[in-house]
Amino acid sequence: MTGLALPDPVLVLLIGPAGSGKSTLARRLFAPDEILSSDAFRAAIAGDEADQRATKPAFAALGRALERRLAARQRTVIDATNVRAADRASYLVAARRHGIPVAAIVLDLPREVVLARNAGRERVVDEAVIDRHRAALRRTLDEGELEREGIDPIIVLRTPEAADALGWDRMLA
Ligand code: CTP
Ligand code: MG
Repeated sequence: MTGLALPDPVLVLLIGPAGSGKSTLARRLFAPDEILSSDAFRAAIAGDEADQRATKPAFAALGRALERRLAARQRTVIDATNVRAADRASYLVAARRHGIPVAAIVLDLPREVVLARNAGRERVVDEAVIDRHRAALRRTLDEGELEREGIDPIIVLRTPEAADALGWDRMLA
């Protein structure tokens, strides 16, 4: 094994810019009930996963669902961009409170890959937003923030091939 084994239970933070493929990867690797997606909570609240006015209540509802799952010691995946330390802080606190370890799967893909994926989907996000996410992710990785936050393992995927190749064979203890 490569030291990437996911404990169980675990809280997995997906980390990556809009359009980098977080939801696609989550769907391939995890069961639907394990995935808490900020877009899904926005859709449930506002009827539109892109309605930014629903952001606050959506993250509040996500936090409550996370709390329930951590208390029940159920493996959970947060499908949100999670690129800034402030995005991750409340999840880290909640997981620590319940004694559940936190892992990260980071989609640090080339800009042109993310822009192409973004352009090819129904809900296209402004390129400036993706560049802001990429800059925040750069800081997070270059400054070793995830290690400092106690996240382990940290799985960083730098190419689409590496992302497609990530499977349970690499993540089993
Ligand atoms: N995609 C792809 N091949 C992959 C992963 C993603 O073609 N291996 C495509 C998806 O089909 C989608 C687009 O790239 O059209 C964005 O993927 P998605 O998983 O939706 O990205 P997210 O990171 O979840 O974006 P957001 O933060 O906006 O939810
Ligand atoms: Mg998504």
